[in-house]
Amino acid sequence: MEPQVLEREAQSAIEGASTAAELDDVRVRYLGRKSELKQALRAVRDRETGMALNALRERLEKAITTRRRELEEAELEQLFAQEGLDVTLPGDPIPRGRLHLLTQIRREIEDIFVGLGYEVWDGDEVTAVWHSFDALTTDPGHPSRSPSDTFYLDDDTVLRPHTSSDQIRAMESRQPPLYLIAPGRCYRRDTPDATHSPTFLQFECLAVDRGITLADLQGTVLHFFRALFGPEREVRMRTSFFPFTEPSVEFDVTCFLCGGTGCAVCKHSGWIEMGGAGVVDPGVFENIGYDPEEWSGFAFGLGIERIAMLRHGLPDLRAFWENDLRVLAQF
Ligand code: DAH
Repeated sequence: MEPQVLEREAQSAIEGASTAAELDDVRVRYLGRKSELKQALRAVRDRETGMALNALRERLEKAITTRRRELEEAELEQLFAQEGLDVTLPGDPIPRGRLHLLTQIRREIEDIFVGLGYEVWDGDEVTAVWHSFDALTTDPGHPSRSPSDTFYLDDDTVLRPHTSSDQIRAMESRQPPLYLIAPGRCYRRDTPDATHSPTFLQFECLAVDRGITLADLQGTVLHFFRALFGPEREVRMRTSFFPFTEPSVEFDVTCFLCGGTGCAVCKHSGWIEMGGAGVVDPGVFENIGYDPEEWSGFAFGLGIERIAMLRHGLPDLRAFWENDLRVLAQF
């Protein structure tokens, strides 16, 4: 083949190669060991023909290199187009989180008491039997002490069965006057159902000062329930018994759903039972070394889940830890 014809044919084959593999084939065909050009070079006898053929070989090699680069660039461009990142596109929305309903209510309770000058005491979930029972003048035979009611870690250590344990821990480490609330997780051997759980939240309120009476308790509780459930609420006390208070009471609040006329939530009585309270038993003060002649106090304890359930009309306590976001996201 005439060198010019060969060159034209080879150049158009190089141009026409559309992939790296095709280009390789072209190279083998026109520049490989068995190619016409290589054979012609081998057979060359005169210098001029040799130089011309070598120049042709160089031109073809250069053209192949150029074409290879073009193909690689095109390939890259295609890849970029496929996997391209458009930084101007709006991102996926990130759903906004919120505090768990029980955390919201705990904080609300804390705010109400901080507004009254109380401090928030961070108690302990693992306590001595002393803190949970003995110091609270609870008889050795009291049913709440039984291992079928309370989780024992060993003979002297329990998982806090009520936040009343924190009254003792606080008084042991402080001198009166003392105004505190202690919110925290409690543990009891209860089988879970709509209103019971082996773990739940309570908060304890303790005030110790000179001359504190049951009237201070009533006024504080009334203020608290009005702040939480609305300014029309009334509070009443019924006599009760707790080992660590004397006198002991349980208090009810007027139903905030029916306003006292009677509905399913207040069981048609107009009143909702809220919790236990009382004037701190002088024996408790003696146990922790306060002089009961000088100091007096009141205390009460309330369930935080109960408050949340009442306030939002939730029928089942288990909703709080099943963590179904469809439920929790409503609050
Ligand atoms: N600790 C009691 C309970 O878990 C509630 C309670 C009753 C707390 C009377 C008190 C109190 O501070 O004075 O059922």
